[in-house]
Amino acid sequence: MKQRDVVVIGAGAAGLFCAAQAAKRGRKVEVLDHAKKVGRKILMSGGGRCNFTNMYASPENFLSQNPHFCKSALSRYTQWDFISLVAEYGIPYHEKTLGQLFCDDSAADIVNLLLGECAKYGAQVTTRCEILSVEKVDEGFAVTTSLGDYRAESIVIATGGLSLPKLGATPFGYKIAEQFGLSVLPTRAGLVPFTLHDKDKQVFADLSGIAVDVAAGNQRNSFTEAMLFTHRGLSGPAMLQISSYWEPGEAIDVSLLAAAQAEILQDARKTSPDAQLSTVLAKHFPKRLTQVLIDINQWQNLPIKQFSEHQLNMMENQLQSWKIKPNGTEGYRTAEVTLGGVDTNEISSKTMMAKNVEGLFFIGEVLDVTGWLGGYNFQWAWSSGWAAGQVA
Ligand code: FDA
Repeated sequence: MKQRDVVVIGAGAAGLFCAAQAAKRGRKVEVLDHAKKVGRKILMSGGGRCNFTNMYASPENFLSQNPHFCKSALSRYTQWDFISLVAEYGIPYHEKTLGQLFCDDSAADIVNLLLGECAKYGAQVTTRCEILSVEKVDEGFAVTTSLGDYRAESIVIATGGLSLPKLGATPFGYKIAEQFGLSVLPTRAGLVPFTLHDKDKQVFADLSGIAVDVAAGNQRNSFTEAMLFTHRGLSGPAMLQISSYWEPGEAIDVSLLAAAQAEILQDARKTSPDAQLSTVLAKHFPKRLTQVLIDINQWQNLPIKQFSEHQLNMMENQLQSWKIKPNGTEGYRTAEVTLGGVDTNEISSKTMMAKNVEGLFFIGEVLDVTGWLGGYNFQWAWSSGWAAGQVA
């Protein structure tokens, strides 16, 4: 029987960071993970460069049934705290866009930072360890694993969400929550590409690989970023972002014209009245998309002067409010995150401990806190891991 003060289950972003924090306080900590390697999602993230935080991270960038829950942890361990740590390790990084900070070299720099912090404070990390059961006992918890039995005063559940099952994602955290009487909110894939109905797929088939700047939105939110046509449907940051706010069956409003371009056709009528509609559109959109836009809207490809002002106005409106009804999403197979999860009403926002189970903590993505695309999910892992690490 191995005696520990804290057993952390899940050696991902939140688990490793929390383990180092608890060990820094002098606690005897061991992190257990069933995977062969730690931090596999970190290694894959940001195209291999890990978008490790966002300079503008704030509670508004997170979805949760309780939007207030994330405030305390995010304000006590901020993006600037993590950025200082990255600098302390001499990791080169840059802002890509919209406050998103990426490693210059490799996501492995972040995994090495986390392992470095664990080693510095003496937190042990054990991989290839199957967790067979977690039970409450008088003096804390008994954890039975494929590598032997543990006793610990505190247990931190950091097993993440359901996205990318290939990388070792499991519903373990939700099952533990239910076992201890905590409610778990329904989960679904977030930050995930959309699939299209066959009819639309055929129309857009030739556009695969084309990216355009759009504003994609619904009644709940809107994002101005790139949209990418894929051979299955629609992806790119704008679509991934709005997918977290999408309900099945709903249409998405896509504006292909930024405010400054709202009158491209009316302007062309003044500046180049003899140009064909397709020529005018091709100045603003990739050529293949121009043809599809003409086809789906059943516009005539005439010289621009032959359209009335009213007609041009209508066409501009169509470009600004293109409605696309996805068939669904690609699901957990390609989703970056899982929406829903352990109900935050059951958890202290200050410590991440279950309100009714002394010593049981939940951190990171397993909780019903989901960030936007852009480094927010890792910031939640750091902030929630830090909060639990101060008391576990
Ligand atoms: P995480 O999933 O990191 O870790 C969970 C750990 O628990 C894993 O090591 C797993 O093996 C282990 N585990 C699971 N079940 C277990 C069990 N039954 N027994 C033992 N161990 C178990 N976010 C961001 O901010 N910037 C970015 O650039 C990206 N990019 C990105 C790309 C891709 C492809 C994906 C899939 C996701 C992202 N994300 C992201 C999201 C980000 O990776 C995610 O939100 C965090 O990794 C969540 O951290 P956690 O520690 O909560 O879970």
